[in-house]
Amino acid sequence: MSEPANPNTPAWRRADRPAAVPSACATAEDVLAALLDSVEGGELHVRPLRALLDSGRFARFTEIGLALRRAFRDPSRRGYFIARMKPHLRYVIGLLPASIQRHGMLPPEPAPPAPGTLELEQVSDAELRQWLVDDGSLIYGEFQRYELENYFDAIRRYVAPGGEMMDLGSGLGKVVMSAALALPFARCTGVELMGYRHGMAVERRARLLDRAQGLLAALSPQGVDADAPLALPFGHAATLRHLLALDARIVLREQNMFEADVSRASLVFIYSTCFAPLMDALAAKLARELPQGCLVSCTTFPLAHPAFRLLHHFPSNSVAWTSVFVYQRMGPADGPAPQPVHLYAPDPDEWEAGVRAEWERQDAAPA
Ligand SMILES: C[S@@+](CC[C@H](N)C(=O)[O-])C[C@H]1O[C@@H](n2cnc3c(N)ncnc32)[C@H](O)[C@@H]1O
Repeated sequence: MSEPANPNTPAWRRADRPAAVPSACATAEDVLAALLDSVEGGELHVRPLRALLDSGRFARFTEIGLALRRAFRDPSRRGYFIARMKPHLRYVIGLLPASIQRHGMLPPEPAPPAPGTLELEQVSDAELRQWLVDDGSLIYGEFQRYELENYFDAIRRYVAPGGEMMDLGSGLGKVVMSAALALPFARCTGVELMGYRHGMAVERRARLLDRAQGLLAALSPQGVDADAPLALPFGHAATLRHLLALDARIVLREQNMFEADVSRASLVFIYSTCFAPLMDALAAKLARELPQGCLVSCTTFPLAHPAFRLLHHFPSNSVAWTSVFVYQRMGPADGPAPQPVHLYAPDPDEWEAGVRAEWERQDAAPA
């Protein structure tokens, strides 16, 4: 499973290999490979949108989103749309917020608009900025299976047996469960804000534990020896206890990551591609609370804080489609933050040109 040994001279995987077949498990390593390949992805998961959008945090999300989308779609308000969006480009991933795109999550426009419908002119700059942050957190992105394998290869030399891996914003739990199987952590903890995502992760965890029990029972109907050696797929040595204790080793919490206890973490994973507006606050929390030596990895945006030493920057299209940064918690937590080198600051003129080109494409397309 693990060809690239050295992150300095890597041969990164570019696609998923065929998944291991559970019925062909002749060894505990086969069981482990089958379990790892069975961890479910989540990018295309169905979201319970109505309930989510009507719930507290997103109560005005639909109303403001529809106002923004109407301004975007109205040819006479294009200049106004550009002017309102330009101050907030730091909060927009890509050209346009996901929710106002053609296949975005907002409901269709009621026709004709109901009396008293909110218009963008009535939405303050602060509300619009918060809407863009919420829009980013509704997006769901994750590594493909082969990218996760590349990532495990990239970090394996830093990972010592024991310790706790934490995924801040763990979504449906794919990284937490995969790490618990593939790497020798004593515990892998996922922290997820959105209740329905946490709920789906809990169900997936239960299915994984059932599968593990079934495959181990089929492998050795008389019971397995917990002390029997087990070679982990990225080069670490373990015993069968690694699989027998999966239940205790995978922990999922429904919690805001800013309230999570990270004080015992040895690796913090953050798929931070949608977290542009959160990165500074996240870096400050991690600098304050992580133990010395803890590893932190994040995607797309760097951690600009003097408490973190960059160990590796894997550029986009190496480990994964986007940049992956690996840091270590070092030195003092206070002091001035260094000038961020990869600050996400889209060029306003380029952005405007991109949006206007999108309008031209739409105008030229048949209705
Ligand atoms: C891009 S997804 C990544 C999921 C997972 N880490 C993975 O890589 O497969 C980011 C997740 O972070 C969650 N999230 C956003 N803000 C959060 C917060 N303040 N606390 C906890 N989770 C948060 C989102 O709900 C989403 O599920």
